[in-house]
Amino acid sequence: MQFASRLDNVETSAIRELFKLLGTPGIISFAGGFPDSAMFDVEGLKEASAKALDEEPGGALQYGATEGYEPLRSQLSAFMKTKGVDVDPSGLIVTTGSQQALDLLGKTMISPGDKVIVEGPTFLATIQCFRLYGAQLISAPIDAHGVKTDELEKLIAEHKPKFVYLIPTFGNPSGAMLSLERRKKVLELAVKYQTLVVED
Ligand SMILES: Cc1ncc(COP(=O)(O)O)c(C=O)c1O
Repeated sequence: MQFASRLDNVETSAIRELFKLLGTPGIISFAGGFPDSAMFDVEGLKEASAKALDEEPGGALQYGATEGYEPLRSQLSAFMKTKGVDVDPSGLIVTTGSQQALDLLGKTMISPGDKVIVEGPTFLATIQCFRLYGAQLISAPIDAHGVKTDELEKLIAEHKPKFVYLIPTFGNPSGAMLSLERRKKVLELAVKYQTLVVED
């Protein structure tokens, strides 16, 4: 079978290989970033599902707006206001996990050959996703306090990337936390170089 040429350089996903270990009896796998399933709020989810199905069965099961359930977007907008971010519900899209947002980002923002700056190391599935859209990835070095902003500035100035992709809180796989001082610097760089910064 002739697959699309964009798949020519795709290798087996390392994540998928790692996840196979999860099913092995007796193994507690630290391979993926899995939360402890004992922490899942099963009762709360059961209750919420029952309430949604009782109160608005059509709304719960029917196709909905592509942008996401409007009452949820309004709630998210109100939540973000408490964090100092003034965004209208119409400026928000609800995605099925962060990975769908990354894919949409690749689809809408990356043309083949575009440069994207990521942290070195960064999340494996992001690398694979952005490469599928033809991105040329450039690694910015990090330490325990996240991306080194002086190095980042040099890379932005040199490569003029389409965007910068960061995982500022609990970097995957580094676990690094971007310090407040560096967060402010990243914002300054975004303004100074008119560069889009994507926070995962
Ligand atoms: C940094 C990062 N981005 C995206 C994802 C994918 O998230 P989701 O499961 O919400 O699609 C993960 C999952 O581990 C992640 O660690």
